[in-house]
Amino acid sequence: MKIAMVGSGYVGLVSGACLADFGHDVVCIDKDPAKIASLLDGVMPIYEPGLAELVGANVRAGRLAFTTDLAAGIEGASAIFIAVGTPSRRGDGHADLTFVYEVAREVGANLKTPATIVTKSTVPVGTGDEVERIIGEAKPGVEFAVVSNPEFLREGAAISDFKRPDRIVIGAESEFGRQVMSEVYRPLFLNKAPILFTARRSAELIKYAANAFLATKITFINEMADLCEKVGADVQDVSRGIGLDGRIGPKFLHAGPGYGGSCFPKDTLALLKTAEDYDSPTRIVEAVVKVNDSRKRAMGRKVVEALGGDARGKKVAMLGLTFKPNTDDMRDSPSIAIAQALDDAGAKVVAYDPEGMELAKPLMPEVAMAANPYEAIEGADAIVIVTEWDAFRALDLKRVKDIAKAPVLVDLRNVYDPAELRAEGFTYVSVGRV
Ligand code: UDX
Repeated sequence: MKIAMVGSGYVGLVSGACLADFGHDVVCIDKDPAKIASLLDGVMPIYEPGLAELVGANVRAGRLAFTTDLAAGIEGASAIFIAVGTPSRRGDGHADLTFVYEVAREVGANLKTPATIVTKSTVPVGTGDEVERIIGEAKPGVEFAVVSNPEFLREGAAISDFKRPDRIVIGAESEFGRQVMSEVYRPLFLNKAPILFTARRSAELIKYAANAFLATKITFINEMADLCEKVGADVQDVSRGIGLDGRIGPKFLHAGPGYGGSCFPKDTLALLKTAEDYDSPTRIVEAVVKVNDSRKRAMGRKVVEALGGDARGKKVAMLGLTFKPNTDDMRDSPSIAIAQALDDAGAKVVAYDPEGMELAKPLMPEVAMAANPYEAIEGADAIVIVTEWDAFRALDLKRVKDIAKAPVLVDLRNVYDPAELRAEGFTYVSVGRV
């Protein structure tokens, strides 16, 4: 089957490469000539484990191509995916649909053979109706369907999430659309991945509800962690104790500095806007957004406390900048607010991150970047682990103690064992454990 993927960012590129790997004939389209040129050279615009190899193999096999020409790229495609960005609109948090509608207009103007247009971008409820209206207005004169097929890809694990999904959600209003989508995902069908066919609006809401629920789960355990610190309990035991209940489940119960990334912050805000527009407030999600926002800066205060309450003139080594490991993504990373809070308190922050420093530099001009963790730690009055990269799980603690000015470790990801660290002579502070 011929598939066009409009938008070769994170979601488009991963989805396009995986669909090509299933045996489909895929063209990835992007209006950014620099991005397409670098993809044609085999250089990935993002860091995602396994992606360069997957793209390379499928290009060599002749199943994956790249172009900036939308009209040529969609020619003869049975499925045309829209996977362009839907950033938070400045000012009100609504998802900005400019790019989605632009693509819909261009697709409408250039559609010559029957096709199913698939919205993969995260879009508010009702966007599929509007895309259908826009394409219809162009009077393409061929049969077309507009379906919603949200993605549930985690950065750092996106390829395996695509190939071994918990479920595939397809929101379609016609048999034509359902049939094309069954064909697209047939290889997964054979793997017995559950495919859920729903109405289009339900599929659009499923994406937001899933992300808001996960954000809620994280925020819940983060608040429990704060309470654990007050009452002398251990949040990891509490997580395990509640997570073993099959109705709750063990995942997404790791307390930390607050969620970040390209999805949770943006999608929770967009859901709030939709709820407001439909006069159906989602107060739980409202609270989650507020609690998570204030948590990030509070983590900066936690470091100041560990410094004895006064950070002026002190050096803080920040280990990890990205919002989670195995990505270079800095979007809404807690490290940004923490570094800002430390800077406001008069500290000098020196950071190290295995992949995120390039993208971090413009976001935190006040922070100096080190070549490795030990260079950051040299002479530090406190060390703070913000992201749980493997490289920070096995630090040479003796060396750390030797080169730091004071052996103070604030572990915001609960990577280390408190008893062990204290036995090594560290002043050790973590999240929700005393
Ligand atoms: C998320 C969803 O998991 C994915 O299904 C969706 O399509 C896009 O958004 P992603 O943003 O890549 O994926 O990261 P994820 O692994 O979900 O983590 C999000 C944030 O939550 C990170 O900042 C992470 O550190 C934090 N987190 C996650 C916690 O603090 N505790 C947890 O238990 C889990």
